[in-house]
Amino acid sequence: MTPKKALFYVLLALASLTMVQSLRAQKHDVDSEGHHWWQHAVFYEVYPRSFADSNNDGIGDLRGITSRMAYLQDLGVDAIWLTPCFPSPQVDFGYDVSDYQDIDPMYGTLADFDQMVREGKRRDVRIIMDFVLNHTSDQHKWFLDSKSSKTSTHRNWYIWRDGQSKGQAPNNWTSNFGGSAWKFDPTTNQYYYHFFYAEQPDLNWRNPAVEKAMYDTTRWWYKRGVAGFRLDAVGTMFEDPDLRDNPVLPGTNALGDPEQERKYNTEFPEVHDALRDLRTIADEYGAVLIGETVTDNIDALKRYYGDHGNELQMPMNFMFTYVNKLSAPEFRKQIAAADASGGWPVYVLSNHDAVRHYNRYGNGKDNDQIAKLMATLYLTLRGTPVMYYGEEIGMENNDPKRREDVQDPVGRIGWPKDIGRDGERTPMQWDGSTNAGFSETKPWLPVPPSHKTHNVEAESKDPNSILQRYKRLLSLRKTNPALREGKYVVLNETDSNVLSYLRIYERQVVLIALNMSAEPQKATFDLSPQHLSGRTIKSLLDASGASIHGQEVSLEPFGTLVAEVSK
Ligand code: NOJ
Ligand code: CA
Repeated sequence: MTPKKALFYVLLALASLTMVQSLRAQKHDVDSEGHHWWQHAVFYEVYPRSFADSNNDGIGDLRGITSRMAYLQDLGVDAIWLTPCFPSPQVDFGYDVSDYQDIDPMYGTLADFDQMVREGKRRDVRIIMDFVLNHTSDQHKWFLDSKSSKTSTHRNWYIWRDGQSKGQAPNNWTSNFGGSAWKFDPTTNQYYYHFFYAEQPDLNWRNPAVEKAMYDTTRWWYKRGVAGFRLDAVGTMFEDPDLRDNPVLPGTNALGDPEQERKYNTEFPEVHDALRDLRTIADEYGAVLIGETVTDNIDALKRYYGDHGNELQMPMNFMFTYVNKLSAPEFRKQIAAADASGGWPVYVLSNHDAVRHYNRYGNGKDNDQIAKLMATLYLTLRGTPVMYYGEEIGMENNDPKRREDVQDPVGRIGWPKDIGRDGERTPMQWDGSTNAGFSETKPWLPVPPSHKTHNVEAESKDPNSILQRYKRLLSLRKTNPALREGKYVVLNETDSNVLSYLRIYERQVVLIALNMSAEPQKATFDLSPQHLSGRTIKSLLDASGASIHGQEVSLEPFGTLVAEVSK
């Protein structure tokens, strides 16, 4: 055989090996119709510090989560995303990781983690970990070595630069958490870069050794049974190697810094190379990548799916979290954009960085009704919802009233303009007892008085509770193909109060109508464009505040309709 021919056969063998591998990866998680498990799933974010405290030290832990796996299964969620529980000095409550391959003792051990994965498997709840890839803790051994000398092995794992002159940072970049994004370190007389707190130095992703260490970390966790990662702050992974100053905008932000356009330290194209690599590895394990993709428009979000769908399967769409009032036209606009984006939509209403939507949309009088309405909205859309613990019982923000009570450092820096994120991170409300059944000790953050009424125990017994609405919606979604994967068709586009749409899958049609106003409303539907006129509309949910008279629907204030449209 000629060397040329030999090379050809080697390449052919390699190509077929790759094909077999990728087919194997796809087989992991695709049903007979080509749908991936995560498209049918409902995700649920757990903030481990605040979910369940098994050893009564006031801080939630992994054994606590394991003990509540039956609850999660019964609720009807398919995967939980745990915010970081790795060893950490907890400056940013775990988003400052000092070891990527262990569990912080305050949360338990690796054995507890394995037990949690096993229990999750037994109950069909997959475990998604949080991967903080932009930065480590300043106590990570890589950083301790990096700062020790200019010639240390890990020096180039972080971003070090000389100041412009004595006492002057290398450029004008500001930290997301206030002040300059550069900290001077006297050991080597240089500055290091930190997009977040100074205790969170940015990794240098332009260094292949960093890439390798981080990629290997994901493999290590996949082998331990995690079903995927939520990738933290992806837009911040790369910055301009020439460190050009960011353009300064008028005004100052809540932390007192001049506003700037983050042109030279966010959203660099290199991020996408890293995401493609991470995806290749994820595919080997049938894993899913969820992105903390903070964008304010769909075009920017779209890029995170990758040109050929080869980056993140689930870039989170945060646009709902910026909608601060109940508005049918506003939600209609957001949904239309997400639905037309070409990628599978991922809807988020609340999380550990945003005011809970119970507060955002509540009018003080009909909050529970509104919470049910919002659940009905995003659990009936085409796309994967990512819930936040406690929303299913109508948990509200419990914001600190005094600066000295604030735990989240950014709340102390920004007080009173930015009060931090403690309010949305309070303990899960399991029952009406003193510490809401979260712990027998005073919890790390206070439970609000509303835990007396809004808790799992009480709401499990009340057929009209928010919890029961979630359960019914989640089980309906699971069994109804139109809700799971049917196409989204908007109806009555000019109605400023009632948001209505169809979900259509083959012959199955579901009609959803949501009254986003405090007044009773009527809606009639012309279904002739869909060739559905004359069909019967029949409610799929009891007592949701709607009555049907032929093709007309009457909705109580904040009432909802989820109905089958059939012959
Ligand atoms: C986003 C996380 O959600 C937030 O809680 C954290 O403070 C920053 N990334 C920094 O890791
Ligand atoms: Ca504990």
